[in-house]
Amino acid sequence: KLPESEVKRIIATAQRIRENYDCLVVVGIGGSYLGARAAIEAINGLYSKDNFEIIFLGNTLSSTYTKQVLDYLENKKFAVNVISKSGTTTEPAIAFRLCKELLIKKYHEKAAERIFATTDAKKGALRNLATQEGYETFVVPDDIGGRYSWFTAVGLLPIACAGIDIDALMKGSYDAMNDCVNNGYDSNDAMKYANMRNLLYKTKQIEILVNFEPRLAYISEWWKQLYGESEGKDHKGLFPASLVYSTDLHSMGQYVQEGKGLMFETVLNVLNPEENLILRKEAEDLDQLNYLDQTKMDSVAKKAMQGTILAHVDGGVPNLVLEVEEMDAYHLGYLLYFFMFACGVSGYMLGVNPFNQPGVEAYKKNMFALLDKPGYEEESKAIRAKL
Ligand code: PA5
Repeated sequence: KLPESEVKRIIATAQRIRENYDCLVVVGIGGSYLGARAAIEAINGLYSKDNFEIIFLGNTLSSTYTKQVLDYLENKKFAVNVISKSGTTTEPAIAFRLCKELLIKKYHEKAAERIFATTDAKKGALRNLATQEGYETFVVPDDIGGRYSWFTAVGLLPIACAGIDIDALMKGSYDAMNDCVNNGYDSNDAMKYANMRNLLYKTKQIEILVNFEPRLAYISEWWKQLYGESEGKDHKGLFPASLVYSTDLHSMGQYVQEGKGLMFETVLNVLNPEENLILRKEAEDLDQLNYLDQTKMDSVAKKAMQGTILAHVDGGVPNLVLEVEEMDAYHLGYLLYFFMFACGVSGYMLGVNPFNQPGVEAYKKNMFALLDKPGYEEESKAIRAKL
């Protein structure tokens, strides 16, 4: 459990950032940004009414994307939260260097006041830089891997900066933890989900996380990292994929229905949507929708969901349904913890260590060798020979 004093400091810092700036640039990659982005988009939506903006950077080496963000920031009052557990990841390090340049150009010696670093307590380049430059810092606990770290300052500071109630989020998580740890199998949904995944793994190779809410797309991105990095090792593991319906029914629906049959679906069903528009009849029924007079839009969505599940099951695609009461901070906290607990159980059932990610290093070694990074001289020679 995060110490109360740390939660208070995160809330106070977020308040200060919201009062003094127009936006926060969150610089991080993988587990150092996906949880925050998932929570912020799920709660605030894609066109938030909140005036305070959160911008994500450092998750790509695209120079074009980075330059566009930096141009956009030119006339904004912004702060930066640079997040890296190792403190040495190349993508966020490059983005942060560029952001810092812009801050220094705009604010000179006052630039450091606008930088908040979340990193290891003692080691890594970012920790050294933060100490040297005097940034305010938050700690990524040593024993928590990136994909499990959204409930530390890694996720909570950006989430609080987005105006979201992190106390409610944490309460949801603690309640989920109690249920996951204390409930017997019959009333333990996380255990059941882990078990179903492993049963289905006997005949299927892909799990698709499906939702009908565009604002949940990044929950799927976070979930893909969670399950992909936790289980994809020793040549084992379901491939975690995701689709957002209805749009993907009109692109990937054909494959799911009649393709090679490699997958099952896990449907995330939000029972009570935040908004529920009512359709009304028109004097002339030119678009032939008058039969839906007084129908709530979400009930059309729910029929689409039921129709899809029935069709896909008929097509040989098993479906699991996860029901979430509503998409508020409490229920989101519950859901994210549920997925993490289930992932640990599922990984152990599969016979892998769900808490390491040795495979992520392979591309980095090649990249450093190709970039002639000092210390990689031997690898550089070997990789050039291969090329
Ligand atoms: O789950 C993980 O450990 C990874 O996805 C990391 O979060 C990601 O590689 C970023 O690492 P770091 O926070 O050290 O920059």
